[in-house]
Amino acid sequence: MLRTVVTLTMLATLYARTAIAYTGEATWYHAGKGACGFVNKASDHIVALSPYEYLNGRSCLKNITVQYNDRSVDATVVDLCPECASGSIDLSMSAFAALAPLDVGRLRHVVWNFN
Ligand SMILES: *[C@@H]1O[C@H](CO)[C@@H](O)[C@H](O)[C@H]1NC(C)=O
Repeated sequence: MLRTVVTLTMLATLYARTAIAYTGEATWYHAGKGACGFVNKASDHIVALSPYEYLNGRSCLKNITVQYNDRSVDATVVDLCPECASGSIDLSMSAFAALAPLDVGRLRHVVWNFN
């Protein structure tokens, strides 16, 4: 009985860890030297996270998958977005363009997760 409870708890923890979905707004910015210490260009699929998900750099080089309507794009975390609210993300031009035209500027509701 105890073993079953422990196993179920572990499975639940594992599931929660892989299933966390973040929601927020998505914007785009001009990639350059990021807070993680790398230099990127507009054609790289990269993303800056809010301080709440950037975690003082612990999220650097993790990949995320962003979904917007029926589109999705993968991007690598290379930067901090200090002004982003928790869950909101700032994408490179090419990553944003995979979700919507650049001139839209801001997507009000994207869902993303760490891979
Ligand atoms: C993130 O994605 C890039 C590009 O696809 C890949 O080269 C890299 O290995 C991935 N990193 C991790 C930690 O999965």
